[in-house]
Amino acid sequence: MLSQSLLVKAARCEDVVRPPVWFMRQAGRYMKEYQAIRRNHTFPEMYKTPEIARDITLQPVHVIGVDAAILFSDILVVPEAMGMTLEFVDGKGPMFPNPVRSAPDVKRLVSDGSADKLEFVYEAIKLVKKDLGDIPLIGFAGAPFTVASYMVEGGGTKSFKEIKKLLFKNPDLADRLLEKITKVTIDYLNHQIKSGVDTIQIFDSWANALAWNEFSRFSLKYIQKVIQGLDNPEHVPVIVFCKGSSVFAPLLENVGADVISLDWNCDMRDMRDKIREDIALQGNLDPMLLYAPVETIRKHVQTWLKGMEGQRGFIVNLGHGILPDIPVEAVKCVVDTVKEFETCRK
Ligand code: CP3
Repeated sequence: MLSQSLLVKAARCEDVVRPPVWFMRQAGRYMKEYQAIRRNHTFPEMYKTPEIARDITLQPVHVIGVDAAILFSDILVVPEAMGMTLEFVDGKGPMFPNPVRSAPDVKRLVSDGSADKLEFVYEAIKLVKKDLGDIPLIGFAGAPFTVASYMVEGGGTKSFKEIKKLLFKNPDLADRLLEKITKVTIDYLNHQIKSGVDTIQIFDSWANALAWNEFSRFSLKYIQKVIQGLDNPEHVPVIVFCKGSSVFAPLLENVGADVISLDWNCDMRDMRDKIREDIALQGNLDPMLLYAPVETIRKHVQTWLKGMEGQRGFIVNLGHGILPDIPVEAVKCVVDTVKEFETCRK
């Protein structure tokens, strides 16, 4: 593990010359290099072919100059490995034509040995690591609640009606589903650690759908189980990204993560004062800031960095992923502005 990299050091709240910067969804459609490969392949072909996954993972390191790579894959490979049919429909996103709604549906899902089917991910990690040099690689998985939501809803949703119906009407069945996903997620992340990732991020992208008690009961509890289940002898840092973290951060503090990745609703400096100082913070620029002219972006990021000056345990990212029509220059401008800001030492 690259324990001297900016990312790992910042995740461990050690001294760094400047904060590291990377972005969620940094490999994707906003890059012409990505589009060039995408024209000839479907999305599943891309993440299931280790050489293609490697090339796309490396693109933002070469083109944007980020301080970390994140493996090119998807959180929904886990339900697919558990036996669900997954389709990516252009313009609609991921879909499960046969969503999980009943006890027999949950029973049918396979958890034992399912992570072994994701060999293409482990192979991609090994290939990326050969080419990355001293830049760290981030592996990832979805949080059990977010993955369960996709499995129950069958695709994207605005109301979260099906998953919330399940939580409120049949909490025992929801628990059985979450337990199964948790088991596969632990195996999956343990394979990723063995294959060489330097950091792990758990994406709870749909947690903001939940009220306080349900977040503890159905999301936090299972993220905690995932982290406790890791076989992590070198202590690869664990980042938990949670949409809703502006509200749930006081609960996330005790989940066992090294880093909490914040959405854009909260003030980072204010959050720094509230969260235990041995936990690093990641985030939290509004992704839409990247639609502004580069000069505006530069000034905004400079002012924001100034506010975090001298703080240990700070990783620059967005509050959620890069959108497909963001100009590459805008993303690069954030990276360059952070790299010019060499004053994060105490
Ligand atoms: O961050 C990275 O650069 C690594 C790759 C990555 C992807 N998906 C690539 C992708 C990661 C970490 C994910 C995680 C993921 N996938 C999440 C959690 C993070 C988040 O953004 O909330 C979720 C909810 C998914 C499910 C998913 N997969 C969605 C909602 C979509 C987008 C649908 C759309 O068309 O906008 C996908 C497809 C997907 N995942 C693409 C990429 C680059 C687009 C594929 C394409 O059509 O080219």
